[in-house]
Amino acid sequence: MEPIRPSVAKEQILCVESSAPACGLVVFGASGDLTKRKLIPALGNLFKRGLLGNGFFCLGCGRKKLSDEDFRKIAAEAIKDIPAKQKADFLNSFYYVSGDYNDKNFYGDIKKRLENLDKKGGKNFGRIFYLSLPPKLYSDVAANMGQAGLNKNGKDFVRLVVEKPFGRDLASATELNDCLSKWFGEEQIYRIDHYLGKETVQNILMFRFANSIFEPIWNRNYIDNVQITIAESIGIESRGGYYDKSGAIRDMFVNHMFSMLSLVAMEPPASFGAEHIRNEKVQLLQSIRPFSLEPWNEDIVKGQYASGSVDGKNAIAYRQEADVEKDSKTETYIAARLFVDNWRWQGVPFYLRTGKRLAKRVTEIAITFKKVPHVMFQSAGIEDLPANILVMKIQPKEGMSLFFEAKRPGPKLCIGTLEMDFNYAEIFGTDTPDAYERLLLDCMVGDQTLFTRIDDVKLAWGLIDKILKNWQQQDTEPFLYPAGSESFAEADALIQKDGRNWRKISEL
Ligand SMILES: NC(=O)c1ccc[n+]([C@@H]2O[C@H](COP(=O)([O-])OP(=O)(O)OC[C@H]3O[C@@H](n4cnc5c(N)ncnc54)[C@H](OP(=O)(O)O)[C@@H]3O)[C@@H](O)[C@H]2O)c1
Repeated sequence: MEPIRPSVAKEQILCVESSAPACGLVVFGASGDLTKRKLIPALGNLFKRGLLGNGFFCLGCGRKKLSDEDFRKIAAEAIKDIPAKQKADFLNSFYYVSGDYNDKNFYGDIKKRLENLDKKGGKNFGRIFYLSLPPKLYSDVAANMGQAGLNKNGKDFVRLVVEKPFGRDLASATELNDCLSKWFGEEQIYRIDHYLGKETVQNILMFRFANSIFEPIWNRNYIDNVQITIAESIGIESRGGYYDKSGAIRDMFVNHMFSMLSLVAMEPPASFGAEHIRNEKVQLLQSIRPFSLEPWNEDIVKGQYASGSVDGKNAIAYRQEADVEKDSKTETYIAARLFVDNWRWQGVPFYLRTGKRLAKRVTEIAITFKKVPHVMFQSAGIEDLPANILVMKIQPKEGMSLFFEAKRPGPKLCIGTLEMDFNYAEIFGTDTPDAYERLLLDCMVGDQTLFTRIDDVKLAWGLIDKILKNWQQQDTEPFLYPAGSESFAEADALIQKDGRNWRKISEL
């Protein structure tokens, strides 16, 4: 049956968007993939929307010997849909300094260039340094910046953006943070989790805390279980070297999955301010019951894709991918059952799963409510009614669906499930800002709400650290699943032992 489509209510729409103050973005690793695919297009869109401060500049840095002109050519290829005159102005704000990350003179050259750009602009610009580099370089680059005095800028701000992954376990995340915090204060450090920049992820907060009808039922009394799915149909593509040392738990679970979980389950913050929201996220993580190691694998299952077929095309096994060990035990799939030990969520299971080479690309949070306490239609042979489900759709479709029971026209007693569906693209158009646009602008205006605070990072690592150690010590084999699968027996068993089932990925 066709879903029921709601329209936007014609009441007042409240929008607040601050444009950036005078500042410059300094990108280390500016010749790389992230800069081309995400950062420059996001800057281009902010420029088009008039949100970049007057005199904004982007200074690329890296080992590659590039001139300002070369970097402008890279930027020109990366941006789309900007009218010619605007495009020329935008590209003229790109500059480049090349050097070696271990060479102190490199940082001196960057400092001189920044001072010249301040002079050219006729004022001092706030500075944002973006580490778009392999993670092993973060500590040294930050220390070299600090020694060169790039961590301070008189009265103007200096901020440091750090890409994921932030460490590979609790010890390395703590060590990295100790290095960064020698030179940068917590208020200067912006740890990216790009899932938090997605419109529909932010909508979780609006949905929960801008409406009064959901809060009274958002608890153990009305909610039966919550399922969070991040399924990808792609494999690891050309990232074998990185992925084989990382795996699904480090790549997706400890950051994106826990971020979504904390937004959906946290207590209402006192305000939309960064610290209030981040405090509640941390409090939620503190309430997650630690995984039990005895009996082992009771609450967490790891899988790895074998060869199979995705979208009708043959797909090779993970172990046959380039730069992957032939006997790799790295997980490409994780399913877990978590409990949040607080008053709101006592006894409500949170089922989380993420994997590569699954049947379909889909990210969603599904909240299943408890069934009606008494079925009064038994005389007509209706013994059981399905539960209401609220689905927050993150990708590829962005929106919400509510499944509920209703009378069908015709016979006196005819009940069926209806889906009330709200689709972002249909209602607001397709050009929702990319996550990096939101995150770069927030960093420029100094709003840390959507960036991960260090206590959050440490708690998340703390929760999965012993799992990682145990797998390593026991050399645990992942369960194999054919590429293109919905799921596999051991992942199903994790939820079925509670008398529930995973939502079917291919039907989401
Ligand atoms: N790409 C994405 O979609 C994506 C998504 C999420 C997170 N990230 C994170 O963002 C960061 C950058 O990602 P990326 O994909 O842009 O990385 P990348 O293309 O592999 O590298 C970025 C730049 O770093 C420099 N570099 C690479 N390897 C180096 C080495 N061994 N020693 C010194 N410099 C080296 C290179 O610039 P020079 O040679 O000019 O110095 C390169 O252009 C990483 O931390 C990654 O985990 C990326």
